[in-house]
Amino acid sequence: MDRFAAARTMLKSRFGELFDNPSDHRLGVPQPALELPCPPGATLVELPDPALAFPKQVDLFDLLKSRRSRREFSSEPLTLSQLSALLWATQGVHSIIRDGFATLRTVPSGGSRHPFETYVAAIDVIGLAAGSYRYVATAHKLLPVGNPPDLRAGVSRACAGQESASTAPAVFFWSAVPYRSEWRYAVAAHKTIAQDSGHVCQNLYIACEALGLGTVAVGAYSQKDADSLLGLDGSEEFVIYAAPVGWRNR
Ligand SMILES: Cc1cc2nc3c(=O)[nH]c(=O)nc-3n(C[C@H](O)[C@H](O)[C@H](O)COP(=O)(O)O)c2cc1C
Repeated sequence: MDRFAAARTMLKSRFGELFDNPSDHRLGVPQPALELPCPPGATLVELPDPALAFPKQVDLFDLLKSRRSRREFSSEPLTLSQLSALLWATQGVHSIIRDGFATLRTVPSGGSRHPFETYVAAIDVIGLAAGSYRYVATAHKLLPVGNPPDLRAGVSRACAGQESASTAPAVFFWSAVPYRSEWRYAVAAHKTIAQDSGHVCQNLYIACEALGLGTVAVGAYSQKDADSLLGLDGSEEFVIYAAPVGWRNR
C-alpha cells in the first residue's frame, strides 16, 4: 500500500523527531495567542450561564447508551441558553494557567494548546440574529463574523450538501489554527490536532444527548466552501470538522 505511505505518516508518533528538529517553543520563539483576537471595538454577544440549560441530574450510563448520530431535526429553534451550554461543553475555558501559557478547558488537548476556534452558523436560535459567529472562549461570548444573505445555502454547500445540515437550526464548524500546536510540537503537532478535534466533537454529542438535542459529526464537508463561508485563509486557519445541531426528530 505504498500509495498511502506518506498520508499514514500523519497517524504515527513523530515526537522522536523533535530532538533533531526542535520546535519553535524549544528555540525560544514567543508563543502565539491562545485564541484569535477580536477586532478593536467589536461588540460581543453575551451568552447565558451555561449551567442553566443542563439537567441537574443525568444518568451517565443511559446517556452514553443512547448517544447516536442524529441526522434529522425538527423545525423547532434552539435557545441561546442551549447554544451557550453546547459552546461551553465543547471549548469552555476553566482557567488560564502559568501567566497565559495555556487554557484549561472542558476537553483535553495535547500540551493544552487548544488549536481550535469554534464558529456557529446560527440559522434559527431564539435571541440571536441569524448569522455566523465565532466563540470567544476566554470570555464565553460570541463575536459576529458575518451574515450572508442565504446562510442556509452557504452552510449546505459547506457541508457538501449533506441532508443533516439542511434542517439544523445551528451548525458548528471548528477551525484549526495549526501553528498553536506546531509552535510546541512542530511536525508532531498534526496528529495531536486531529486527536484533539475528536474530543471536542464527542463532548458535543454528549452535551446534546443530555439536552434532548441531536448532532452528527461531519468529516466529509467541503473544504473550499466551509473556509469560504467563514472567511478563513485556508492555510493558517481552516475548517477541520463540522456538526449540525437540532432537536431530535422523534
Ligand atoms: C471522524 C468522523 C467523521 C464523520 N463524518 C460524517 C459525515 O460526514 N456525515 C455523516 O452523516 N456522518 C458522519 N460521521 C458519523 C458516523 O457516520 C457515525 O458516527 C457512525 O455511522 C456510527 O453511528 P453512531 O454515531 O450513531 O454510533 C462521522 C463520524 C466521525 C467520527
